[in-house]
Amino acid sequence: MQTFEELSGQFIEKFSVVHFPGQPSSLYEPNNYFLGLGGKRVRPVMCLMGNELFDEISGDAWHVATAIELFHNFTLVHDDIMDKAPLRRGMQTVHTKFGESTALLAGDVMLVVAYENLNKISTAYMRRILQLFNRTAKEVCEGQQLDMDFEKTNNVDFASYENMIALKTSVLLAASLQMGAILGGALDRNQNLLYEFGKKLGLAFQVQDDYLDAFGDAEKFGKQIGGDIKANKKTFLLIHALETATGAQKQRLNELLLTDEESKIDEVLSIFKDCKCDAWANELKEKYLTEALLHLNDIAVLSKRKEPLKELAAFLIQRDY
Ligand code: IPE
Ligand code: IPE
Ligand code: MG
Ligand code: MG
Ligand code: MG
Repeated sequence: MQTFEELSGQFIEKFSVVHFPGQPSSLYEPNNYFLGLGGKRVRPVMCLMGNELFDEISGDAWHVATAIELFHNFTLVHDDIMDKAPLRRGMQTVHTKFGESTALLAGDVMLVVAYENLNKISTAYMRRILQLFNRTAKEVCEGQQLDMDFEKTNNVDFASYENMIALKTSVLLAASLQMGAILGGALDRNQNLLYEFGKKLGLAFQVQDDYLDAFGDAEKFGKQIGGDIKANKKTFLLIHALETATGAQKQRLNELLLTDEESKIDEVLSIFKDCKCDAWANELKEKYLTEALLHLNDIAVLSKRKEPLKELAAFLIQRDY
């Protein structure tokens, strides 16, 4: 069994091939730029780990891991347009550097190349992988639309937030694991448990992302701090603050939600602090992690084989980038 470091090292090497043609460079260079910025490569490694939980890593798992990472990067390029994000991975976002129209097309063609990689797997698995991949891709779109819809409304409760982050983020982590398991010949029961593990872990992962967006170190996180506050994103931080704040503070928070000025970030942050949103983040992550691990424990393979996934889970919820 290999660790996150070992598998991500191997994945990065395999992934460093040329994914796009040379011309027109105005379309493909932005994608090469973006892929060159790296990223943690969490999802492809999850596919490889899901595969290795049941068997030796297969050639098909590498193809699917590649497709997943391309799909993820496509979602980021479009997400940054939607979120008006200036920075990602410590560098300019694609649309900031190359323009919105190019970023749209660069994302589109990245999605197509993701499917070209999926098309390399053996026909025996094609239907099952494609079905899960497509269902997941649609769910990500649904989650992303909810995320945008929620910017415009203030009555988003915690259950709606949880549903939204499950769709935009968790299902891809969960499906990455399950696709690996499918290719490893896992039984349905084990596949489903692994999916549920990934889904809970994905919730904790997005909670940490939302936490870092408010309280992270800009250098390490590589994204604009306070971007979610500026855009009136309905994160668990804001939902908790709206529930916890009283009197003048609550009124002020509601006032600040009427603008999307950068100048409000510091004031909202201090309200988040007063409302103990950081402690709430820890509680939430612990709860999701505990639930995730229950599913992992139920999977019928030797517990020693599950160690890399447990370590990955611990890393993902504590990460500072
Ligand atoms: C960012 O994902 C998008 C979210 C779902 C929060 P990652 O944090 O995995 O981004 P990279 O690929 O490592 O940059
Ligand atoms: C993004 O959520 C989820 C997807 C890209 C599908 P965020 O908008 O919070 O991700 P970041 O913070 O920009 O990476
Ligand atoms: Mg974003
Ligand atoms: Mg977003
Ligand atoms: Mg975010």
